[in-house]
Amino acid sequence: MDEKARILQLREELHQHNFRYYVENNPVISDQEFDFLMHELQDLETKHPELFDANSPTQRVGSDLNNEFETVVHSRPMLSLGNTYNREEVADFWQRVSEGLMGAPFQVCCELKFDGLSISLHYEDGRLVRAVTRGDGVQGDDVTANVRTIRSIPLLLPKDGDYPRQFEIRGEVLMPWKSFDRLNKEREEAGEPLFANPRNAASGTLKSKNSSTVAQRGLDAYLYYLLGDGIPGDGHYQNLEAAKKWGFQVSEHMRLVNTLDEVFAYIDYWDKERRNLPVATDGVVLKVNSLAQQKSLGITAKSPRWAIAYKFQAEQAETTLRQVVFQVGRTGAVTPVANMDPVQLAGTQVRRATLHNADVMASLDLHIGDRVLVEKGGEIIPKIVGKAPSPDPSPEEEGRKLRQESLPPRGEVWRGAISFVDRCPVCGSKLVRYEGEAAHYCPNDTGCPPLILGRIEHFISRKAMNINSLGPETVDEYYRQGLIHDAADLYELLPPGGGREGDKVLASISESKQVPFERVLYAIGIRFVGEIAAKTLARYYGSIDKVAEASMESLMQINGIGEVIAKSVIEYFANPINRAFVERLRSYGLQMEIGEQQKQAQSDKLDGQSIVISGVFQHHSRDEYKALIEQHGGKNVGSISAKTSFVLAGDNIGPSKLEKAQKLGIRIMSEDEFLIIIQGEKGQN
Ligand code: IVH
Repeated sequence: MDEKARILQLREELHQHNFRYYVENNPVISDQEFDFLMHELQDLETKHPELFDANSPTQRVGSDLNNEFETVVHSRPMLSLGNTYNREEVADFWQRVSEGLMGAPFQVCCELKFDGLSISLHYEDGRLVRAVTRGDGVQGDDVTANVRTIRSIPLLLPKDGDYPRQFEIRGEVLMPWKSFDRLNKEREEAGEPLFANPRNAASGTLKSKNSSTVAQRGLDAYLYYLLGDGIPGDGHYQNLEAAKKWGFQVSEHMRLVNTLDEVFAYIDYWDKERRNLPVATDGVVLKVNSLAQQKSLGITAKSPRWAIAYKFQAEQAETTLRQVVFQVGRTGAVTPVANMDPVQLAGTQVRRATLHNADVMASLDLHIGDRVLVEKGGEIIPKIVGKAPSPDPSPEEEGRKLRQESLPPRGEVWRGAISFVDRCPVCGSKLVRYEGEAAHYCPNDTGCPPLILGRIEHFISRKAMNINSLGPETVDEYYRQGLIHDAADLYELLPPGGGREGDKVLASISESKQVPFERVLYAIGIRFVGEIAAKTLARYYGSIDKVAEASMESLMQINGIGEVIAKSVIEYFANPINRAFVERLRSYGLQMEIGEQQKQAQSDKLDGQSIVISGVFQHHSRDEYKALIEQHGGKNVGSISAKTSFVLAGDNIGPSKLEKAQKLGIRIMSEDEFLIIIQGEKGQN
């Protein structure tokens, strides 16, 4: 067999094994055999770049490149569902449907409401061509590259399936509890902030700019809605059964029912049983099954009349509030935390709950000694949702309460209303509240210990100086021992204990001196200057001295730098403590300007242009072209829209891309033309 045929054969086989493993949970080969086939395919594909296929199983491992997401308008709006927590409203729904159908018999499909984020998948000729997030319902983000790494989503459908040439299928991307727990454990060990719940984790992951991160995080997907002309059945349930045959993961817990009683039985069963599912669910979705009946019921402005979501009640417990303390986080945000009498809630004992911020606290109007309701919502830390409804007090009790409240405080706790602090409980600085933010912050980032620690942790983090031999615990320890007071002290550190561990620490601190300027600028921790802003400033000004000198006007004229960032940069360099910190870093040999090579290679030739890369190239890899585009001020985007400036096209550009570009009148530029343009620029500089 020739190599091309072998590649095609391996792709097909691996797709099937993927399906058996991830969807059917019924693998027929061992992991080792699977890896073996995968390696063979990888090797052959490296040998034959002309046979590149974005839908090859090898692409599931993702790439390390940044994907910028393109906004895509949904072919049909992604509606949301009417929600209820209330059984009467479920009965009302049933009644409305029955009346809407003028008494005709109907069936309802009961499904679990998966708690992730919705996704729309488009298939053409049995191939996944696009995956888009819900966004605002009208348009969403094109996250195809990331979705390709989700192993339960088929990239290629079986050849002989009775699926339409073009169709859309919608569903939910989720992070199973197992992946979620593993991820949070890793993050805890790395000192990174934890995800509050699997939904946030799934959403953060799917929007990740790095598809290899997505590949590692173990996302999953359930599909629950098939759309398009020519879909096989006239019932929703039947269509999902068909989709299951084509290789989609469809929940095995859907049920068709004929009566309202059956609906309630389904709700009751899953309200308890959902605790044993591998993924998070937050309710049940009811859908009229017949597509013809769905059509005749129609939709309202926001949601279909033929479906409704019943949401499970979050578990609550009642206990007594004993004390409120104020915690200062590493960003300086001050959080009120309630200490309460211990109480059992959703499987664990709870004694602390967050009160979020000053506004939430004021609206709860709590007093020490109040009976309160605690709930474990999606967050890690339980929250107080209100006062417990007290039984109507007897006149005697009422009188006693009144007398008590008019007395001066007795004992150790004052029963007055609790108010928010106006000074930092750690360092005493006056707290500030930034416009549009709910939290109060301690502004003393060079003098308040939790903030100092936060800044050092940021400084050593992977995307900053990447001093990976140090973790947050070690940093805390060094700080407590008085070995370091700020990040610059790291460069004079003598690790306690020395030895091989110490050598490793010193080596990675020393290596960080080579970290490029743009990351140093990010690492020093100017408030609101994230990775992208740091890159932009570094490229624009070229050195820290130029950034430090920059005026408000100069900063504001840069694409991507707004007033908030500009102000923050000015403030940062106006503070002598920060300037001294930067000078110390310079004296230790950190990069304070962009490299020679970068300086020469850079231009603004493609400034403001959105460029789509498509096809197979001769002179550079796709990744290299992406880097070149960015180096010259352009932006690489995923799919063609009216906003696209041009398509950088190699061989075998996809026919649908070509057609779309031509329809929108967008220029198709060859590799050679592109290289002439950017090289020409270099010559002129
Ligand atoms: S059907 C027109 N089915 O709940 C019907 N949605 O507000 C569209 N969801 O955005 C949705 N499980 O993200 C449907 N079995 C299920 C679902 C489900 C979860 C989510 C979905 C949607 C939201 C409804």
